[in-house]
Amino acid sequence: MVEVEEKIEKWVKLGAEGKIYAKEGLPERRLIKVLEELGGSAELKELKSRLGEEIFRIGLIWAKRNRWVEIIRVDDKPYMRLKTYPKERTPEEQVLNLLLEGERRFEEIPENLRSACLELAERPEVIELVEKRIHILKPTELLMSLSPDELEVQEVTKLTQSLIASGKWKELKLSRFDIRAPTPPIFSARRHPLQQLIKLIKEIFIEMGFEEIRGPLVELAFWNFDALFQPQDHPARAMHDTFYLAEPRFGDLPERFVESVKMTHENGGDTGSIGWRYRWKIEEARKLILRTHTTATTIRYLAEHRDPPVKVFSVDRIYRNERVDWRHLAEFHQIEGIVMDKNVCFRDLLGLIKEFYSKLGLKDVRFRPGYFPYTEPSAEAVVYLKDKGVWLELIGMGIFRPEVTIPLGVKYRVLAWGGGLERLALALYGLDDIRTFYLNDLSWIRGFPRIYLDRKAKRI
Ligand code: PHE
Repeated sequence: MVEVEEKIEKWVKLGAEGKIYAKEGLPERRLIKVLEELGGSAELKELKSRLGEEIFRIGLIWAKRNRWVEIIRVDDKPYMRLKTYPKERTPEEQVLNLLLEGERRFEEIPENLRSACLELAERPEVIELVEKRIHILKPTELLMSLSPDELEVQEVTKLTQSLIASGKWKELKLSRFDIRAPTPPIFSARRHPLQQLIKLIKEIFIEMGFEEIRGPLVELAFWNFDALFQPQDHPARAMHDTFYLAEPRFGDLPERFVESVKMTHENGGDTGSIGWRYRWKIEEARKLILRTHTTATTIRYLAEHRDPPVKVFSVDRIYRNERVDWRHLAEFHQIEGIVMDKNVCFRDLLGLIKEFYSKLGLKDVRFRPGYFPYTEPSAEAVVYLKDKGVWLELIGMGIFRPEVTIPLGVKYRVLAWGGGLERLALALYGLDDIRTFYLNDLSWIRGFPRIYLDRKAKRI
């Protein structure tokens, strides 16, 4: 309806001192007046007592600067003597006089007085320069074209209950919405990007017919290592790789498996293996640790579920005694799963893994030989990241060895795999630093594009 024009205007007005000077004269003018009354020359002391300290001091400065007066010595006393001075008003005095009537736009000050005006503005509180922001409103053609009737109509932006009930809405005009008007951003509740990926992974496993399992974070070394045929002097068990609990240090072993696991380690037991050939110590197996892989949870579950088929997975936290840096965390997640059934084989495992990752959008998965103490054969799945030009290790896998299954009474082949979640997330999200996920940086979490994991949008 209206156009708004903005202008900045310069104004000048008298300050507190300036008001006094405008009425009583500038200090330098008052000084020479007194000096004239005294015959054109006077002792400084005398002038000071007539004018007062303040006016005398300021007047002296300016009168000297203007060369209206000079200081001389008479009988060794300081005197002031008049030189030449203007009888009529100086430009400064004309400005003060002009402003006594009220503030003025700077442009209204006559051109020959402007520099005097600016000089006075330099003196404390004499003249103030102010900038005023002016808004000029002009009616648009649309407004001008409206009839008085149309101008009377009341517009509302909201239809309230009372407007409807009273029937008043019929007389009102509803404002149009500007759907392009900028609005403040709204942050609705959402999942953390890592949790978003975990949710997606779980959905994929469920789609593929798996059930989720979980297990304790504080685990017996027995399930984390011994039941998986990892010898008790294996380097992964050392304090610098594994967190051991200080209190309590030991837990209770599942007694019915202790003897068979012990024999398998020492001489192979009933497994057809010759074992690791050392004395297996029960104290070592009773130690409590923070689980170093989710395979501890897998094997715990398998020991209790020996009837085929078993198809389970977990996405859960594990702990390693690592120095934290851009690629390492001491606390992170693993994706893990097993399939146990009468007729499964290594090729089923490769197919399953390929299928799983392709559902995640990673199509170019390759396999290469690997080694784990608890699987044979063993492999690693890697994926080629085109934009980075690197092969990313996704997961370790294999078929559980007889040294793992037979002591627990498991009769069929078990396809097993497990691998880190955070490194996969880094690659999928195109990030560089694994710690990003744990900084709790709200603006990063809020700004994270949702589309990444939107399977319906076919982005992944
Ligand atoms: N537990 C292995 C790891 O932490 C992964 C793995 C799981 C390998 C199951 C083989 C079978 O890297």
